[in-house]
Amino acid sequence: MTDSARSSFAAAQTVAPEALAHSRRLALRIAEEIDRAGGWITFDRYMQLALYEAGLGYYAAKPGKIGPEGDFVTAPEISPLFARALAAQVAQVFERMRIARRVLEFGAGSGALAGDLIRELARLGAAPESYGIVEVSPDLRAEQQARLGGAVKWLDVPPEEFEGVVIANEVLDVMPAKLFARRGGRILEQGVEVEGEELRIGERPASFELREAVEQIEADSGPLPEGYVSEVGLIARAWTATLGRWLRRGVALLIDYGFPRHEYYHPQRAMGTLMCHFRHQAHAKPLWLPGLNDITAHIDFTAIARAANDAGLDLLGYTSQARFLLDCGILDLLRQSALGARETADALRLLSEAEMGELLKVLAVGRGIGGPLLGFRSGDRLHRL
Ligand SMILES: C[S@@+](CC[C@H](N)C(=O)[O-])C[C@H]1O[C@@H](n2cnc3c(N)ncnc32)[C@H](O)[C@@H]1O
Repeated sequence: MTDSARSSFAAAQTVAPEALAHSRRLALRIAEEIDRAGGWITFDRYMQLALYEAGLGYYAAKPGKIGPEGDFVTAPEISPLFARALAAQVAQVFERMRIARRVLEFGAGSGALAGDLIRELARLGAAPESYGIVEVSPDLRAEQQARLGGAVKWLDVPPEEFEGVVIANEVLDVMPAKLFARRGGRILEQGVEVEGEELRIGERPASFELREAVEQIEADSGPLPEGYVSEVGLIARAWTATLGRWLRRGVALLIDYGFPRHEYYHPQRAMGTLMCHFRHQAHAKPLWLPGLNDITAHIDFTAIARAANDAGLDLLGYTSQARFLLDCGILDLLRQSALGARETADALRLLSEAEMGELLKVLAVGRGIGGPLLGFRSGDRLHRL
C-alpha cells in the first residue's frame, strides 16, 4: 500500500456511520449479483455498479464529490482560465470554420466549465446558440441546473445528429474498464468474487473480446511480461464509435489522463493505471468502500483515435493539456486577468509538467473541419498515437 493509500484508510475511521452503512448496502447488492452470476463478475461490471448503480453508486448517490470538500478536483474547478482558454478554441471553430454555434458537454460535473465557457464565449462575441449537457449523475445534474438554470438544456442521451463542438473533460476515465493479467503464458481477466464477507479480485480465462484486445496491444507495443496487470477501456472505445455516428459536422475535444498505447502498455507500467480517489487521497484499492470512492483508469489514446477513425471521424490534433492551453492563449489571459498570487498559482497548476499539464492530454476528432485547430498549432503529437 502506498503512503497515500495508507492515509486514505486512516481517513475511513472518520467516515460517518450512515456513509459506511450506505457502502455496505452497495457491497451487498454487488455480492448478490456475484452470487447470481456463479461466483464472479468482470471488473468492468463491478466498476459499473460501484460508480453508477441507481441510488447507490458513487456518481448516482454520493453527495459532494468534486471540489475542496469532496474527493477530487478537475481543471475547470482549479481555475476559470481553463474554460477561458478552451473558449478561444471553441470560438475559432464557430467563427473561422463556420460550424453551428452549438456546444454539447458530456459529464459536466459541477457545471463550472459550462458557466465559465458560456461567459467567455459571449465576451469573445461567439455566444453559443445552444449549450447541451449529457449527464448520468442525478445529483450532479441537479447541481448543474441550480448553477446554470435556463442557459443550458439537459439531454438523457446523445442526440441522433449534432453539428457543433463536443466537450468531454475527464469523462472517458470514469467509464468502466476491463482488467487483465498476463500469467503463465495466458491472458486472464480480473473480476470480483466474494470471500466470507469481503469482496476480492479473482481471475478467469479472458473473454474472446478482451483476449483479442490484449493480443492487439502486444502486436502494437511488444510482449507484456509475466505478472503484468493493466486495463482495457472497451466502453470508452464504444462511446467514441457512437460519437462517429451522431457527430455530423464539428469537433469533439476529449480531455483526459492518458498516453499513446506504447507508453500506456510499457513493460514497466506493470500495475496499470487504475486509480481511486477518496477525500483527495489517491489509492489503488477499488474494492474498498464501494460507492464512497471514485474509480478511474487512464485512456489509451491510440485506441480512442482508432475507434474515432474507424467510425469515419478525422483526427485533428493530440497534445498535452499544457501545450493546448498555451496555444489557446492562456498566458495572455493570465497577464490580462491581474490575478492574485493564489489564483495565479492555481492557473499554473494546469500547465505544470509534473502535474496536470503533461498527465492530461487533449484529443480532437471531427468531421467537416478545414484547417488546423488553434490548440494544436505548435505542439501536435498525433504522430505518436
Ligand atoms: C470526473 S467527473 C468530471 C466532471 C467535469 N467534466 C469536470 O471536469 O469537472 C466525471 C463526470 O462524467 C459523468 N459521466 C460519467 N459517465 C458518463 C457518460 N457515459 N455520459 C455522460 N456523463 C458521464 C459523471 O457523472 C461526472 O459528471
